[in-house]
Amino acid sequence: MFQTAAKTFSVSAATASSYRRVFSVGLRRYCKKTSTKLRVSEALSGAQLGAAVKVQGWVRSVRPQKNNIFLHVNDGSSLQSLQIVADAKLNDPLLTFGSAVEVSGILKKSLHQKQPVELEAEQIRVVGECNPVNFPFKIKERHSLEYIRQLPHLRCRTNAFSSLLRIRSEATAAIHSYFKNNGFVQIHTPIITSNDCEGAGELFQLEPSGPAFVDEDNFFSVPAFLTVSGQLHLEVMSGAFSRVYTFGPTFRAENSQSRRHLAEFFMVEAEISFTESLEDLTKVMEDVFRSATERVLARCAEDVDLFHRHVTPGHRDTVEAMLNKSFPVISYTEAIDILHRSSEKFTFPTDWGCDLMTEHEKYLVKHCGNVPVFVTDYPYDLKPFYARDNQDQPKHTAAAVDLLVPGVGELCGGSLREERLNLLMARLKRVGLEDTYNWYLDLRRFGSVPHGGFGLGFERYLQCVLGVDNIKDVIPFPRFSHSCLL
Ligand code: 4AD
Repeated sequence: MFQTAAKTFSVSAATASSYRRVFSVGLRRYCKKTSTKLRVSEALSGAQLGAAVKVQGWVRSVRPQKNNIFLHVNDGSSLQSLQIVADAKLNDPLLTFGSAVEVSGILKKSLHQKQPVELEAEQIRVVGECNPVNFPFKIKERHSLEYIRQLPHLRCRTNAFSSLLRIRSEATAAIHSYFKNNGFVQIHTPIITSNDCEGAGELFQLEPSGPAFVDEDNFFSVPAFLTVSGQLHLEVMSGAFSRVYTFGPTFRAENSQSRRHLAEFFMVEAEISFTESLEDLTKVMEDVFRSATERVLARCAEDVDLFHRHVTPGHRDTVEAMLNKSFPVISYTEAIDILHRSSEKFTFPTDWGCDLMTEHEKYLVKHCGNVPVFVTDYPYDLKPFYARDNQDQPKHTAAAVDLLVPGVGELCGGSLREERLNLLMARLKRVGLEDTYNWYLDLRRFGSVPHGGFGLGFERYLQCVLGVDNIKDVIPFPRFSHSCLL
C-alpha cells in the first residue's frame, strides 16, 4: 500500500492474476515443498546444487526441442542468464523472448561447458507476457547503443545497458568506499540553491507551478536554481570538517548536444582543509580514479568485458595503461607550448589566455602517452572567483587543476580556494558580487584555512573506463537540450 497526503493507493495481487498462467508437470509432492528464492547470480554460483529453488526473471532466449524446452532467464543480477531445462510439456506460446517468468525446480550441474549450472524446471509460471512481434528488441540481434537510446523505458532489458547499470552501481559504491576509507565525511549538499557557484550563467531557474501558486510570484522570495555544483556548500562544511565530499545530481543549462555534456549529470566533489598544495588534490583525484576503476574491473569483470570486446574493442589496453602508469603533471603554460609546437591544425585558438577546448585536451592526452594528465595553473582570468591567486607575473595564474583523460578530455576540475579575505573581497567587488557572497566572505572572516577541492564528472568517468563515445549511453535517463524523455 502506498500512501500520500492526498490519496491512498493499494495494489492488489488480483490485478496480475488475470494474465497469470501456471503450468506444472504434476509433481504435487515437490510443489508442496517450499523452494528457496534465488537470484540468477546466486543460482549460477553453484553453491546450491541439488536444492529446490525458485528463480524469477525475464526470458532472454527460448529453444523448444522435441522432448525438452530450453530457456535462458535473466534477473539483472549478472550478465549471464540461467539455463532452464524443462519437459516439452511445459512449453507454451506465452513463453516468449522478453516475457517475465517464475521457475521452480532443482539446480543441477550442467553437462555443457557454457554454463556450470542449470535449473531443471518442475513448474514454469508466466508472470507477464511479451508479444515478440511488437517488442522492439529481437532475439539474438545485437542492437546498437544508438538504437536502444531511443527506448529509455526498455533499454535496461538489453545486455549492454544492464551491464552498464551494474557497473555504474559498483562504481558508485567504490567511490563512496574510497571516501569513507580515507576519512571523508559525506555531506548532502542541496539541489535547490540561490547561488551560481561557477558563475557561468548555466542555471535552471525554479518556479512553482499549479493553481495553489497562481498568486505567488516567488516561492523562495529569492531567485532559486538547480545546483551547478555543491562546492560552495562543501566549503561551508570544510570550516568544521577537514575532509568532506558529496556525490549527487548537478544541473547545467548548457545548450549543447555534445557527446560529453548533459543537462543533468552526477558529480563527485571533495573539499580538503589545511592544504596549500595542488599535489594534495591531484593525489586524491588520482586515488579515487584508481581505486574505483580497480574495483569495477575486479567486481564487474564480465560486464566490463562486454564493453571492451563488443562496444569499444581495444579499450582494455588503454585502461590497463592508465592504471599502470602514474599521471603526468604539466602546467597550462607548458600545455600551450605543446599545442604551439604541434603540427595539428586546431579549430580553436591556442594563444596563452585561451581556454583549452576538447580538441586541445585530447591532443594533450595523446601527447602525454594516452594516459590521464593533470594540467595546472590556468590563467587567472579564466577561473571563477573562488580560485586562489598565484600572484605571479607577467603570466597571471590561479592555482587550479584539471584532469584530462583519454577519449573524453576534462574529467575533473578543481583548485585551491582563495582563503585570503582581502584578495577574495577585492575580486568579488570587481564583479559586483560582494554583497551576494557576504556569507562566503564570512567563511574567510572566521577561522579561515587554506583549502581546496575538485569535482569529477561521474558520467565522463564511466565513458573513460568503458570507452563509450556518447555520454547519453552511460546514464539511465539522459537529459540534454531539446530532450527530456520520460
Ligand atoms: O569543472 P567543473 O565545472 O567544476 C566545478 O563545478 C567545480 N565547482 C567542482 C569543484 O571544485 N567542487 O565541473 C567538474 C566536472 C567536469 O570536469 C566534468 O567532468 C563534469 O563535472 N561536467 C559535466 N559532465 C557532464 N555534463 C556537463 N554538462 C558537465 N559539466 C561539467
